[in-house]
Amino acid sequence: MPIHHFLDIDALDRKTLRALIDTAAALKAKGRVPKSLKLPSAPVLAMIFEKPSTRTRVSFEVAMHQLGGQSVVLNGQDMQLGRGETVADTARVLSRYVDVIMLRTGPPQTLTELAAHATVPVINGLTCRSHPCQVMADVMTFEERKGPIKGNTVAWLGDANNVAASWVQAAARFGCKLKIACPKAFAPSPELLAWAAEEGAEIEVGDDPMAAASGADCVITDVWVSMGDADERKRNERLRPFQVTAAVMAAAKPDAIFMHCLPAHRGDEVTAEVIDGPQSAVWDEAENRLHVQKAILAWCLGAKLMAPKPVRARRAARAKPARRRRASR
Ligand code: CP
Ligand code: NVA
Repeated sequence: MPIHHFLDIDALDRKTLRALIDTAAALKAKGRVPKSLKLPSAPVLAMIFEKPSTRTRVSFEVAMHQLGGQSVVLNGQDMQLGRGETVADTARVLSRYVDVIMLRTGPPQTLTELAAHATVPVINGLTCRSHPCQVMADVMTFEERKGPIKGNTVAWLGDANNVAASWVQAAARFGCKLKIACPKAFAPSPELLAWAAEEGAEIEVGDDPMAAASGADCVITDVWVSMGDADERKRNERLRPFQVTAAVMAAAKPDAIFMHCLPAHRGDEVTAEVIDGPQSAVWDEAENRLHVQKAILAWCLGAKLMAPKPVRARRAARAKPARRRRASR
């Protein structure tokens, strides 16, 4: 069987991505990991961090624990990697000790090199080019609040950074429309947009935040200065017109939600009124990292993902809730 790496959303087919989201949602609904997803041999996850993290680190560690495995957290600077040992040699050695590796790094080449030389699955925990685990949790959050994302409109305001790039890929795979408003200098790469166009994705890129938010089902943003970005002052100045404010949210649909991968800077990319207001889904979004992480780890480690209940079963469950609950014990 080929190794199940989770490197980017564009590397996976629609069916697998859908199964990952459905499994994450089922795990959340159940409130526990069913036997079918418990990992039999207490596998070990190694996480390498070359950049800081709160959510990714903790959600992966807890996810692994809940699945019946354990994790080792490595700071890139404390490893021989930080003293010049090659990524390839690191991959070969770690593959002899652990069952799956997650990497958070800057250059996407480090991730692809790790995956090329590892004999165990590798997960992208963020590079400066993408953040697929985050956007899987975002899609899950959108769907639990508003139903299937297909055909809906998501507005991205601000820096079209790594998270936005994964959103471009998600728009192509999940069939939603993505309207990006950003200064020209902070737009997605032409290669990524060309790929999205070839995939038939509906992506609009402009520099008018109100036009992007208009009629959107979700407004989303991220920090103006990502980890590793230089020129903080210039970025803050140029991105200020793209702040998500109450006026921006008012341009979206009345039941639109606001999302942000966090950490957030209130008063910069979003006002406190919006992120702490009734349309904000950011805490569910952060929680959903845990459920998505479990689904991704289980898939990487060869478990069969959970299929959503067929429509007929869902109707029956609605008609006879008590009986079905007893029967499923
Ligand atoms: N959203 C996210 O990846 O958060 P951390 O940087 O805290 O992991
Ligand atoms: N774009 C941000 C995301 C942090 C989770 C960064 O790369 O710093």
